[in-house]
Amino acid sequence: MVGNQTHVTEFILIGFSQSLQIRILLFILFLVFYASAILGNVFLFFIVLVSPRMHTPMYFFLCNLSFIDIGYSSNSLPKMMVDIFSRRRRISVTGCLAQINTGIFLGETECTLLAVMAYDRYIAICFPLYYTTIMNRRVCTKIIVILWVGNFLISTIPMILKPLVFCGENKVDHFVCEIIAILSLACGDISFYETTIFVLGLFTLLLPLVFIVVSYICIIYSVLTIRSVAGRSRAFSTCASHLTVIFMYYGATITVYMAPSDTFSSKHKYIALLYGTATPTLNPLIYSLRNSDIKDAFRKKFYFF
Ligand SMILES: *[C@@H]1O[C@H](CO)[C@@H](O)[C@H](O)[C@H]1NC(C)=O
Repeated sequence: MVGNQTHVTEFILIGFSQSLQIRILLFILFLVFYASAILGNVFLFFIVLVSPRMHTPMYFFLCNLSFIDIGYSSNSLPKMMVDIFSRRRRISVTGCLAQINTGIFLGETECTLLAVMAYDRYIAICFPLYYTTIMNRRVCTKIIVILWVGNFLISTIPMILKPLVFCGENKVDHFVCEIIAILSLACGDISFYETTIFVLGLFTLLLPLVFIVVSYICIIYSVLTIRSVAGRSRAFSTCASHLTVIFMYYGATITVYMAPSDTFSSKHKYIALLYGTATPTLNPLIYSLRNSDIKDAFRKKFYFF
């Protein structure tokens, strides 16, 4: 049945079919988001690196998060900004699969790392006396190695086990290559991939989200015992801002990857902007702007030279 269909070697991304005004607006949005993602994350990375006082698990994890966010946004945004005004929005099948694989790998690593960071805060706030014993250097290094290697393996192995082959249609209604958008264009049986995406989603999206929510509930519970009203409200507003970004990120990814919708529709590409574009920019802001250590380090490094 597939015998007489042509073999697809490149995709055409038709996500940007809006009017010129909307495309200009999107371009400005992408540029602002990308520039602030790079600046914010490089800044955070640098500040932690040069401040010995911040060589603690929490900031090392934050550095890893910045590293992921730089890679994650560079995986898609520069190409999107080029494509938005170009006539031929083509991408080779190999390039597309590489972009998909990188996106899944970094996305999964980010989701699981956010859960580790919530756990780290939970231990620090709820068991302050045991913190340095529980989160010692060896444990942290182990966690990070397992995260990177494990996520690399589970995002790569399915693609090696059952390589995707495309035939027939090659137009993708999306801004970038995403597995969920090109899966329906693959020939042959895609049930293996549907199952894999669901199972991976369970372990890298839903489970970490539940874990994060439980950790924050414990944190909030323990914050309630803080005597001073000012301290309590500051802790609450920090938790609230973390949880806002967390819910936005996981909510958007779960909607796209795990919601039982039968086909990929064009509303998905706008939801994808939330986790693909907004989150890498918001992470450094949310995790560092409200953080007095980072403000202090910044003042020391740049004001008092
Ligand atoms: C990631 O975290 C580990 C363990 O805390 C740390 O040793 C390493 O330097 C971090 N790597 C990056 C790139 O931030």
